Amino acid sequence: MSSSDFEPRPLDTHKPSSARIYHHMVTGEVIFESDLPFIHRLYADIPFYPKWAQHNRRFLARAVRHMVGAGVRQFLDIGAGLPTGGNTHEIASGLAADTRVVYVDNDEEAINRARDLLREQGVLDTTAMVDADLREPARILDHPDTQRLIDFSQPVGLLMVSVLPWITEADKPAALVEQFRNAVVSGSHIAMTHVSLEDAGQEIKQQVAAGAAIFADASTPVTLRTRQQFESFFNGWSIAEPGITYATDWHPDQPVDIDDYARPCNFAAVGSLP
Ligand SMILES: C[S@@+](CC[C@H](N)C(=O)[O-])C[C@H]1O[C@@H](n2cnc3c(N)ncnc32)[C@H](O)[C@@H]1O
Repeated sequence: MSSSDFEPRPLDTHKPSSARIYHHMVTGEVIFESDLPFIHRLYADIPFYPKWAQHNRRFLARAVRHMVGAGVRQFLDIGAGLPTGGNTHEIASGLAADTRVVYVDNDEEAINRARDLLREQGVLDTTAMVDADLREPARILDHPDTQRLIDFSQPVGLLMVSVLPWITEADKPAALVEQFRNAVVSGSHIAMTHVSLEDAGQEIKQQVAAGAAIFADASTPVTLRTRQQFESFFNGWSIAEPGITYATDWHPDQPVDIDDYARPCNFAAVGSLP
């Protein structure tokens, strides 16, 4: 990683970002006081959002463990978010010492915090945070840190966990996923989740629609998708058991506080490349 990559980037503290809001829902940490009005509005409309976020985060951990168990030793975690406990490199290296992880995000706070953490942990030889946008696959794939850490002749674990909701239809999300599929070899895996209202009750539909509208004030709008749209992102991948399911229901490894609110609003699946 070049030293210029570590220069702090300017932060927009006035517009809440999806990364900071999600981080708050997972950890309770308020990063900027200016995010609080937005967070309070979101809590009012979607009181179950923190639970949704925590279920989503736990799915990511289980998907990483699944991939390491399947022999994957290198990960491209796109839309990685702000680091919290149980980050991809920590989970993976705890299971197999020779793992490498490239994180990607386009949020300044996520990038700066991840780089600080990786530097503090002394893991920059095996891990990096790349400042890039999912909408630019070539920039991610060709980035010097990606090329340094990922051997594309070996299986790769792609993580796109709750990042596609931030990609509008105009940006052709299925084509973006396809470009990553075309870059990796057989035995590679992909894990994705996606917020959806398809299976939600009427009351929740109204709540979440109101919450989603709030994101119009954030730095990025959110796109809700159907099960079929989510499944289309796995085109070319063999979807592992139990198929397209809710994040809570994907190989749960501990009793979870399942409810009728958060549970149906997050589709999840893991695929492997035949
Ligand atoms: C809801 S968080 C998910 C974080 C993490 N993947 C997880 O599941 O715990 C979404 C993340 O995707 C990032 N993101 C949104 N749009 C992106 C884009 N076009 N390119 C890269 N990252 C993006 C946001 O900055 C944020 O950190």
